[in-house]
Amino acid sequence: MRAGTGRTRPTLSAATSISSRRDGRARVPWAKLKGMKTTGAVLTEAPGRWELAELELEDPRQGELVVEMVAAGLCHSDDHYACGDTPVARFPFAGGHEGGGVVVEVGPNTPGWSPGDHVVLSFLPVCGRCRWCSTGQQNLCDMGRFLRDGTRADGSYRLQLDGEPVAQMCGLATFSRHTLVDATAAVKVEPDLDLEAACLTGCGVGTGWGSAVNSAGIEPGHTVIVMGTGGIGANAVQGARHAGATHIVAVDPVTLKREVASQVGATHTYATMNEAIDLARSVTNGQGADSAIICTGVLEQDHVRAAFDAVRKAGTVVVTALGRADTEVAVNARELTLYQKRIQGSVFGESNPLTDIPLMLELYRSGRLLLDELITTRYRLEDINRGYDDLHAGHNVRGIIVF
Ligand SMILES: NC(=O)c1ccc[n+]([C@@H]2O[C@H](COP(=O)([O-])OP(=O)(O)OC[C@H]3O[C@@H](n4cnc5c(N)ncnc54)[C@H](O)[C@@H]3O)[C@@H](O)[C@H]2O)c1
Ligand SMILES: [Zn+2]
Ligand SMILES: [Zn+2]
Repeated sequence: MRAGTGRTRPTLSAATSISSRRDGRARVPWAKLKGMKTTGAVLTEAPGRWELAELELEDPRQGELVVEMVAAGLCHSDDHYACGDTPVARFPFAGGHEGGGVVVEVGPNTPGWSPGDHVVLSFLPVCGRCRWCSTGQQNLCDMGRFLRDGTRADGSYRLQLDGEPVAQMCGLATFSRHTLVDATAAVKVEPDLDLEAACLTGCGVGTGWGSAVNSAGIEPGHTVIVMGTGGIGANAVQGARHAGATHIVAVDPVTLKREVASQVGATHTYATMNEAIDLARSVTNGQGADSAIICTGVLEQDHVRAAFDAVRKAGTVVVTALGRADTEVAVNARELTLYQKRIQGSVFGESNPLTDIPLMLELYRSGRLLLDELITTRYRLEDINRGYDDLHAGHNVRGIIVF
């Protein structure tokens, strides 16, 4: 049984303080808190709804920052926790892993940071020293492995709810008015940048854009299919454009998503993969797409099969979408071997947070990367569940919370 399952769900209304109950698991190390109080959205069960709770933040330790959030993106990955697709290691679980804000407090002996610094938070921290960081693969930083449990590297927690430790989504918890993060997950940005747009680079943009630019192996003239053009896929479309693709085929059953995909660079849009495959073959002398990037909300076997079918010999399927924890991928083995097709997983689009977030923001500043166009609806923190209802109903390319 997962920690926290089987507990009685407190009856709550928005903006009410809630109590967590002991779940019988061994106590985890955490410091006596004397820090500030804030309001954040938490899950207390899964499947479950987001509930507002009064959270207490520990005083920042060395290498930590207290950030006052300005904006946070409603990524589908948080919804995977709420729906139960992704197991939650500990409840309460404070959500949000895409966000931007202003540093209000800096831990002791933490050089390089000052109150007032503007930051985009990266859902992957960068230690700068591990094998991955030191070989230009910051997205695979070993510190990332601690994020699953919502703890720091030593297994400790920094937020508290009525005396119980609270897990932080990706170590961040951007659905809180204030949060306490490791500075390795903060990327300083210029203060004149609009943080509502910039916050998207912490997950959605880096993931989608990088899935095209880094993972798909796109070259000038290529034909690329992007399957699912929500917050991630719309950025894969933009990445495909930057990488020089000639035909950028967006597939999404929702009209709004197809319209926005066209606005940000798709040359063709379809509601189904069959139509996209027909188009790709028609423009490649029957060979098929050079690559297909899967950015659907919940990855299913069929999505990978369709993308695998869509690509030409030696073509690439990029799997960016996340499925349920037990989803497996099967493709025809002969086709894999004899057609030399490649299936490439991609986390944060193989982007390096410390260099690619500033790069993407420069592209935004120069008008080449469109971010404002991706924000469909702004919500108050109190309306977070409406935001996720809208995501499910297909109303948003990206919804954001504005604090
Ligand atoms: N790999 C990573 O590092 C990473 C990072 C962030 C998010 N993700 C994952 O990426 C996925 C997309 O996230 P998002 O925030 O863009 O979600 P979203 O809900 O905003 O967008 C998903 C889109 O897929 C479309 N869709 C659903 N089924 C489809 C189908 N069969 N064919 C074509 N389109 C279909 C939906 O209409 C929607 O527009 C999620 O699974 C999310 O968890 C992965
Ligand atoms: Zn995300
Ligand atoms: Zn590292």
